[in-house]
Amino acid sequence: MYDIHPVPDDWARRAWVDEERYNELYTQSVENPDAFWGEIGQRLDWTTPYTRVKNTSFAPGAVSIKWYEDGALNVSANCVDRHLATRGEQVAIIFEPDDPNGTVRRITYRQLHEEVCRFANVLKAQGVGKGDRVTIYMPMIPEAAYAMLACTRIGAVHSVVFGGFSPDSIAGRITDCTSQFVITADEGVRGGRKIPLKANIDAALAKCEGVKSVLVVRHTGGDVAMQDGRDVWYAEAAAKVGTDCAPEPMNAEDPLFILYTSGSTGTPKGVLHTTGGYLVYASYTHQMSFDYQDGDIYWCTADVGWVTGHSYVVYGPLANGATTLMFEGVPTYPTVSRCWEVVDKHGVNTFYTAPTAIRALMAAGEEPVKRTSRKSLRLLATVGEPINPEAWEWYYRVVGDSRCPVIDTWWQTETGGHMITPLPGATALKPGSACRPFFGVKPEIVDAEGAVLEGECSGNLVIADSWPGQMRTVYGDHQRFMDTYFSAYKGKYFSGDGCRRDADGYYWITGRVDDVLNVSGHRLGTAEVESALVSHAKVAEAAVVGYPHAMKGQGIYAYVTLMSGEEGSDELRKELVQWVRREIGPIAQPDMIHFAPGLPKTRSGKIMRRILRKIAEDDFGNLGDISTLADPGVVSDLVDNRQNRA
Ligand code: WT7
Repeated sequence: MYDIHPVPDDWARRAWVDEERYNELYTQSVENPDAFWGEIGQRLDWTTPYTRVKNTSFAPGAVSIKWYEDGALNVSANCVDRHLATRGEQVAIIFEPDDPNGTVRRITYRQLHEEVCRFANVLKAQGVGKGDRVTIYMPMIPEAAYAMLACTRIGAVHSVVFGGFSPDSIAGRITDCTSQFVITADEGVRGGRKIPLKANIDAALAKCEGVKSVLVVRHTGGDVAMQDGRDVWYAEAAAKVGTDCAPEPMNAEDPLFILYTSGSTGTPKGVLHTTGGYLVYASYTHQMSFDYQDGDIYWCTADVGWVTGHSYVVYGPLANGATTLMFEGVPTYPTVSRCWEVVDKHGVNTFYTAPTAIRALMAAGEEPVKRTSRKSLRLLATVGEPINPEAWEWYYRVVGDSRCPVIDTWWQTETGGHMITPLPGATALKPGSACRPFFGVKPEIVDAEGAVLEGECSGNLVIADSWPGQMRTVYGDHQRFMDTYFSAYKGKYFSGDGCRRDADGYYWITGRVDDVLNVSGHRLGTAEVESALVSHAKVAEAAVVGYPHAMKGQGIYAYVTLMSGEEGSDELRKELVQWVRREIGPIAQPDMIHFAPGLPKTRSGKIMRRILRKIAEDDFGNLGDISTLADPGVVSDLVDNRQNRA
């Protein structure tokens, strides 16, 4: 058992809220959401003020979510223009390149304004209009933020695709939202290695239709092919436009962006976020969870290809007028001290990363941390997966010198921002717990039948009512939205996570209870990996499950049945791993491949994943009831050939 860390006195005094204030505000926020969020919404500049705040329903078959629905605003104006009068010369974005000796860029709010306006004018010149979908496939460079903000300035809807995804994955995402425009760069660089972004786009566009224009930002200067009539160098287009671009007033419920994420079945879903509620929620959570104060230097290590990069690298911090650091590289390059060197170099006050990174750095010992100062750090935070208490304590003690609160934020692509999180001035910390609900969030723990459990309990985590940052729909498929999130427990949003609540009312997320994997904080559907495997000519059937992995949180364990006549070999294992990397991307590569002549199925042909999970976990002593198996014989064969042996 680990100690509770009480709120230090100075934190309680100087933070935005202390414990008493949290309790007071939390009660108000859930008892009268209209009044609470009506007031919080005032933090933004609205071109048309709203008169309605919350208009939401989780009713079966009629889910509808609207916040601030008669208000109008522009996201780029809120993230950039409105800061010009008071902080035009303040740095908005610090760019730290992959190479520690490369050129740091510091972009002030005034420069950011110019860049975003110019980029928006380039988009217009390419024919991009309000409501058009724009696919962004970029490295972690300031131009990625310019591109996103430029879209919001003219009312275009961006769909950022993580630079680690394959051409096939890009093509699927372009097709799903019928995007006619792509923004990319020649190459990215991570840990000294080049990533052929433009070449990946070329390969993707060979597999999908409808893309009219590709804007290419020059970054590494690497050689790329340019297709006449389709591909345009950003710099050339930018030289032809001015830097005047009035922000388009958008309705609060106009689409802001689409972000694809994996579910338990089918292809990735286009999570749709809208303008007003999302920005209120991203900026308010950024301020409260991290106790953001004027002048703080803030660093979130997430890539803009994930929701954390959207809400907590770009939109939340910039809406708050913060200085946000964009890091192109990886935490272990050139050495495992890199993060702390960057902290010292830029005087970072707040550091936000994933447990998988903390575990990797922890494995390298204390010395690489201790040789740096880190005295600028004030607050540490994590996101992406449950953090084991050992890693929490290491982060707290070694990285933070037992001086900085560790804020474990639970949320999802779907939720837009933090949902369960401690507030540094208000919440005593328990290592491994995401602690208490954020303002306006009503978590409940339910059993399999949907009965709401009280007090100390464990079960499935649902949210009983809407919050402003909630996704509004699955792009182009509202039925799928309702089926995925609102059908398991009628009238409630189902998170897909299991959760325990302790006697103090603290929440402990235990991980996904559906067929979603969380590998190094990256979300993947087992069905996606299975479908990549079965698309290989030698594979007849595949079943993929997760198993506990010391570094990655979860590893990918694939059971593969080969076509008759094919033989399993180490060679073929390697080939299949490469195949999945190519089909989806490196984050999806299986850690273990188990060639299985047969899979355990019920008499009706359903694969019994429970058994596959147990064997993958090397925990086959108690497989539970196997009497419903069509052929119980396959199980002993699977156990004998298990790949994960202690
Ligand atoms: C899933 C959502 C939201 C940003 C990054 C991931 C897991 C996320 C935590 C946490 C325990 C966490 C959940 C969730 N997760 N944060 N602090 N503690 N689990 O977003 O890709 O949409 O994944 O990540 O399982 O459902 P995402």
